[in-house]
Amino acid sequence: MQAALEAAGHTVTVTEITDGLHCDLQPFDTVVIGASIRYGKHRPAVLRFIASHQHALEAKPSAFFSVNVVARKPGKDRADTNPYVRTLLRKTAWKPTLVGVFAGKIDYPRYGAFDRQVIRLIMWLTHGPTDPLGTTEFTNWQAVDAFAAQVEVLHK
Ligand SMILES: Cc1cc2nc3c(=O)[nH]c(=O)nc-3n(C[C@H](O)[C@H](O)[C@H](O)COP(=O)(O)O)c2cc1C
Repeated sequence: MQAALEAAGHTVTVTEITDGLHCDLQPFDTVVIGASIRYGKHRPAVLRFIASHQHALEAKPSAFFSVNVVARKPGKDRADTNPYVRTLLRKTAWKPTLVGVFAGKIDYPRYGAFDRQVIRLIMWLTHGPTDPLGTTEFTNWQAVDAFAAQVEVLHK
């Protein structure tokens, strides 16, 4: 998304949302917040960031996207049908101008033994990949590019 926006001539600042982050959103034309799901939840630091920047976020065009593997499933692959996106939007007063969801990646070799086994079990139950040596990227990069194109026109 950064590459697509920069290719279109925009300056993009990317930063990780952590609890210690001090970030003045005022100078930015548009704010995009993305967060992945770990064990059913977006990171609490992301929710706290949204809550503490509520006014700044409302004062300008903004976008939110979630990355999770449930979104690989038809019927859970849209912002209005993905359960994690729906929960996040219910938990916050923020109404992003644009909301998206993308299927992420299963990368067993990078996981510790515990996560690997738990995620293999979840994947087995949901008919996903279970090869402990395998990596599967479910991301539809065309959808990511399309989202970036929508972000680009938000402040116009
Ligand atoms: C420890 C762990 C737990 C996860 N739990 C979920 C989950 O509950 N639901 C889901 O849809 N995806 C889950 N995922 C999949 C991630 O959302 C997906 O791999 C995403 O691409 C991770 O992006 P990140 O590495 O940038 O955090 C989990 C992944 C990991 C590593």
